[in-house]
Amino acid sequence: MMLKDKNIALYVTGGIAIYKVVDFMRTLIKKGAKVRVAMTKSATEFVTPLTFQILSQHEVHLDTFSEKDPEHVAHVDLADWTDIAVVAPATANTIAKMAAGFADNFVTSSLLATKQPLFIVPAMNTDMFNHEATQENIQTLKKRGAYVVEPDTGFLAEGYEGKGRYPENERIVEELEQFIISSTADLPLKGYKILVSAGGTKERIDPVRYITNDSSGKTGHAIAEAAYQKGAEVTLVTASELKAPQAIQTVRVDSAKEMYEAIDERFAETNILIMSAAVSDYGVAHTATSKMKKERDSETVSIELAENPDILKTMGQKKEQQFLVGFAAETDELEKYAQKKLQEKHLDMIVANEVGRADRGFNVDDNQVIIFTSDHDKIEIPKTSKKNIAHILIDKIVQELEIEE
Ligand code: C5P
Repeated sequence: MMLKDKNIALYVTGGIAIYKVVDFMRTLIKKGAKVRVAMTKSATEFVTPLTFQILSQHEVHLDTFSEKDPEHVAHVDLADWTDIAVVAPATANTIAKMAAGFADNFVTSSLLATKQPLFIVPAMNTDMFNHEATQENIQTLKKRGAYVVEPDTGFLAEGYEGKGRYPENERIVEELEQFIISSTADLPLKGYKILVSAGGTKERIDPVRYITNDSSGKTGHAIAEAAYQKGAEVTLVTASELKAPQAIQTVRVDSAKEMYEAIDERFAETNILIMSAAVSDYGVAHTATSKMKKERDSETVSIELAENPDILKTMGQKKEQQFLVGFAAETDELEKYAQKKLQEKHLDMIVANEVGRADRGFNVDDNQVIIFTSDHDKIEIPKTSKKNIAHILIDKIVQELEIEE
C-alpha cells in the first residue's frame, strides 16, 4: 500500500549484489511502485541494462550526454519525477561521490539534482565498509537526512565472513516502507496512538493444554498495519503467532487476563482502541501447575471455568476521549446483536461479521462485514480480503474523527 503509485528512481551502482537488486525491483513493482532505473558504467559490467529495462518497462539511463529528448535534460527530469530515490547496491565509490557532491555520471548528477528523500543500501567488502572514509561519508549522508540501511554480516563474495553484505530484500522493503511513512508529513493519523488487539486468547488448563478458538489474528494484524501506514503510532496486543512489522510495537499475550492488563495499562494514553481479538468469555478457574493425569475411574472429567473480564466493556466505562471500535462475530441476527453491543459497550463503531461459514470469517483470508457507527451509519463491505477491510475500516475511522486527509 505504502509503495503503491510511488515514483521510485532506482540508482544501481557496480557491486556484485546487483543480481539481488533485480529481484528487489520486481518486489517494488509488484507492490504498485513505478520504477525508473539509472546505472553507472561499472554496474553494467555485472548485469546488462536490458534486464532492468525489460523488468521496469522503461529505458535505463546510462549516459549524461546521450540526451534523446531535446526538450528535456534527462538527469534533472528523473530527479523531478522522483518521490523517493533509492541507491542499491551503493558502492563505496558512489557513496563517497554523493557525500562530496560529485556529478560526474548520470547517477551522481541525477542524485545531486534530487530534492526528495534518499534511501541508500550499501553493499561492499567489509574492509571498504569499515574504512573511516566510508564511515564518515555515510555519517555525512545521514546528517543530510538520507536513510542508510545497515548491511548484513555474513559470507561475502570474497569467500570470508564480514559486514558489508547486501541484506535480504524483505528487510530492505520493510525499511523502505517505514522510511516513506516517517518522511511523509501529511499522513492523517500522525500523532495518534492506536491500540489494536488480535487473535484468539488461550486459556491454560495445565502446562501443555489450553482452550482457544478459531481466530487467526489476520484481521487484527492487518488493521495494525493499515493504521501504521496512515502514520499512527501503533501498539498491537496479540494472542496470534503471526508476524508484525518492526515498527509496530507488539505485545505478545496468551490469556484474556494478560490481554486485559496489557490494554488497561496503555488505555489512558490511547486515542483509538480497536478490539478485534476473539477474547474467551471464560478462563480456566484453576490452572494446574503440572500436567493433568487421566482419571482412571471416571468416564467424564470437569474443568471449572470462570468468567473473564470483558475488556472492551470495561474500557467503554473508562472511556474519556478515546474512540472505541469493537467486533461482533455472530451466527444469526447480525445487525440486532451488533447494535446491542455498540450501545452496551459504549462503542463508537462496531464491525459485524457472520461466522460459521467456511469461506469467510475465522481463519481464512477473506471476510464480509458491516460497519455500524454510533451516529447510525451503516457501511456494507462485500466479500474481500481482510487487508482491504482493514484499510476501509481505518479510512472510516479517519472520516469519523473528522481528520483532514
Ligand atoms: O460480547 P462479544 O464477545 O460478542 O463482543 C465482542 C467484542 O468485545 C470484540 O470486540 C471483543 O474483542 C470484545 N471482547 C472483550 N472482552 C471479552 C469478550 C469480548 O474485549 N471478554
